[in-house]
Amino acid sequence: METGLRGRDMITAQEWSRAEIDTVLEVARDLKCKRAMGVPHAYLRDKVLSMLFFFTSTRTRNSFEAGMAQLGGHAQFVDSTTTQISHGDTAKEIGEILGRYNDAIAIRQCDWGEGNRYIREVAEASRVPVLNMQCDHYHPFQILADLMTIIERKGDPRGLTVNVSYAYATSYQKPLSVPQSLILLLTRFGMNVRLTHPPEFNLLPDLVEQASENARRHQGSLEIVDDFEAGFKNADVVYPKSWGCMMTTTDHQESARISRQYSDWIADERRMALAKPDAVYLHCLPADRNVEVSDSVIDGPQSLVYRQAENRLHVQKAVMALTM
Ligand code: CP
Repeated sequence: METGLRGRDMITAQEWSRAEIDTVLEVARDLKCKRAMGVPHAYLRDKVLSMLFFFTSTRTRNSFEAGMAQLGGHAQFVDSTTTQISHGDTAKEIGEILGRYNDAIAIRQCDWGEGNRYIREVAEASRVPVLNMQCDHYHPFQILADLMTIIERKGDPRGLTVNVSYAYATSYQKPLSVPQSLILLLTRFGMNVRLTHPPEFNLLPDLVEQASENARRHQGSLEIVDDFEAGFKNADVVYPKSWGCMMTTTDHQESARISRQYSDWIADERRMALAKPDAVYLHCLPADRNVEVSDSVIDGPQSLVYRQAENRLHVQKAVMALTM
């Protein structure tokens, strides 16, 4: 177990060692047990987390806020639109000032080309840990919860085939942060990761290269396919979700036109039947129901979406308890 994590930022899980991530998972399991047994675990009494949101959230906001209360501390919700950020407060000033009031700063800033840079600028100026609640590149707490969910259901993750796939959606250009973070992390746990997407929906090449290197080092694999149904074949875990084609265009109308070509990329029962009989379906939510995934799949027996959402709470509490 690697301790000594007090003061560490969590901006991407890639910057944490395998042993440190193992520690997070172990602490998360312990906290999950404690909550189930009603055992108090106020490890962060008198500590305050500032949560700065530039973008909407259901799960992230609620799980961080509930998690801080369960750890005996307090979380304050800050909506960027009601701050002076639009009137000139810089990332440096946010890091300096919120870091003096609080014991950690959590930020969601998903704007393409800006989010990660903003969070790193805040972290540079902050005297307390900065936690990434999702940026344009990474969603570390989501994928830690996803990994915990896979291990809970499947046990040893080495050798599992996981299909991280694009799926069609109409609601909005979803960030690349979930698929990028997934391929980076799951390859470090010896999984065979199949990245499935149409040619216009590439991920950042540097991160795909890092994921390939992770696979090489950890006896996993990374293959890239462009056929939706081939992605499901014999998979142990399927994770079909929408993301935007920002690598092709940032124009919303053009991206909607490109996406419409793939309107049949929906996770339905016929596609699920291509995976192994005991395959599980994952989605970080929110999902475009009956566009991205059929009700029968997301509400069906193979779906673990609510367990994933619950595990957000436990991994976030683990990271906060270890770093704050
Ligand atoms: N999965 C996830 O991050 O959910 P929210 O956008 O609701 O926080």
